[in-house]
Amino acid sequence: MYQRIVILTGAGISAESGVKTFRDEDGLWESHPIEDVATPEGYAANPTLVEDFYNARWQQLINEGISANAAHVALATLEQSQQVELFLVTQNIDNLHEKGGSRKLLHMHGELSKGRCPRSQQTFMLTEALGPDNVCTCCIPAQKLRPHVVWFGEMPIGMDKIHQALSQCDVFIAIGTSGSVYPAAGFVDIANQVGALTVNVNLAPRDPHCQFQYHWQGKASERVPALVNAILAGQSIAHD
Ligand code: APR
Repeated sequence: MYQRIVILTGAGISAESGVKTFRDEDGLWESHPIEDVATPEGYAANPTLVEDFYNARWQQLINEGISANAAHVALATLEQSQQVELFLVTQNIDNLHEKGGSRKLLHMHGELSKGRCPRSQQTFMLTEALGPDNVCTCCIPAQKLRPHVVWFGEMPIGMDKIHQALSQCDVFIAIGTSGSVYPAAGFVDIANQVGALTVNVNLAPRDPHCQFQYHWQGKASERVPALVNAILAGQSIAHD
């Protein structure tokens, strides 16, 4: 029934795994002003504060046994079925899609588990916290690694590939994202323009300004497995 599916995920798909979202009640941006911890200017002004912010979120991922939930696993099942051409892009910087079994995905906002050389842009898996002693091995003199996270004002990763996938898809599904941040928030417009079916999966009720054709309200851990089962069974998902 469906051939080429683009799926965009946001913080809401990881919420039930115990990872804070950004804009829900008690979200990350309530306790950490964006300009302080998610902008190049904030990093330049106080690198230690920014490193502590990302080190704390990385430590939570590796220490607190945060695991993938049924929504992550369902998307991995869809990938492994090879019944559809799936392009999975996430705004999340956690590693829960990988823990859930996904192997092909694009982290358009970067990854908590990696540091980046500010000079060569080469990325390195983090084996220790970011800080003055955590330096690259690609430059002389070695450069202190920065978080491999796309900050506000910086260009997200893989935009060419994302636009190509969107321009050829017949289904676009967004899961657990508030649609607050561009360019991701504009993906649905591209999908609608190319005549794709567009479905939004979110805990919150449909937003009247929402551009998605259909809205599956509920928890990602419940709605995403149902969505994937319908796709694999060749059933229509063109309904609320
Ligand atoms: N199931 C489904 N959706 C959920 C769940 C859940 N269990 N819990 C929360 N949500 C929804 C919320 O209703 C909200 O629409 O997930 C969304 C989370 O929105 P945000 O916190 O804004 O996260 P996100 O959309 O991923 O933010 C986008 O903004 O700050 C930047 O770089 C950051 O990647 C992030 C981007």
